[in-house]
Amino acid sequence: MIEFDRVSKKYGDITALNSFSLKVPTAKITVLMGLSGSGKTTAIRMVNKMVTPTSGSVSIDGVDVAARDAVSLRRTVGYVIQEVGLLPHKTVRENVSLIARIAGQPADVAEGNATEMLTMVGIDEQFFSRYPQQLSGGQQQRVGVARALAIKPNILLMDEPFGAVDPIVREELQDELCRIQRELGLTIIFVTHDRHEAVKIADQLVVLSNGGHIEQAGAPSELTATPANAFVRKILGV
Ligand SMILES: Nc1ncnc2c1ncn2[C@@H]1O[C@H](COP(=O)(O)OP(=O)(O)O)[C@@H](O)[C@H]1O
Ligand SMILES: [Mg+2]
Repeated sequence: MIEFDRVSKKYGDITALNSFSLKVPTAKITVLMGLSGSGKTTAIRMVNKMVTPTSGSVSIDGVDVAARDAVSLRRTVGYVIQEVGLLPHKTVRENVSLIARIAGQPADVAEGNATEMLTMVGIDEQFFSRYPQQLSGGQQQRVGVARALAIKPNILLMDEPFGAVDPIVREELQDELCRIQRELGLTIIFVTHDRHEAVKIADQLVVLSNGGHIEQAGAPSELTATPANAFVRKILGV
């Protein structure tokens, strides 16, 4: 379990997060949904120590991440964002295996993991030796997911990963993500502002307003059936 315990983050006068507390269950998908600026990115980047809390703590299985070495922590936490950021002069396979190498895997293991994960996300072998710009946006995003999985993480942080993908491909990516999550037993925190995506993939759906204030959290069916307030009704369109 990942636990945010009264976490605050201030940037000068701005309070990005104000005493944010949340339990993220293991091997489930938790979706954070909220308007732009509500602190979603700040919250998830605390899990892999890209952001340090001003106060409060984030722990993984009872261990405060503040006490963890950032490099070894990031070997167990995958990170996927909308801007996939593949290296243009490396092939698809190299883009994935390189990350596994950096995470300390021997070359042959890294190669094997790259092949396995590319296959898992649905990239055909004929694309392995191509370059990123020869791929569609949807394929590039799949490679981004494969790259995050190649380090064999047990936690995956996903910050609006499918925002730039067209609707039909986006549906496919959501389906495959859910399949992969079950297959690998991943703990996923997924940020989106798309209500259909949120309701579809979430085990736990968390609706946030400014400062990371939790308006409501629970199963998607619970939130859509009994929204706690007008804000939740509006953001879920019910
Ligand atoms: N590095 C930063 N420096 C200053 N302000 C920041 C920084 N990162 C985020 N913020 C501010 O914190 C608030 C929350 O931002 P963010 O976590 O990115 O929200 P979200 O991902 O929900 O859009 C916003 O007001 C944003 O402008
Ligand atoms: Mg954000």
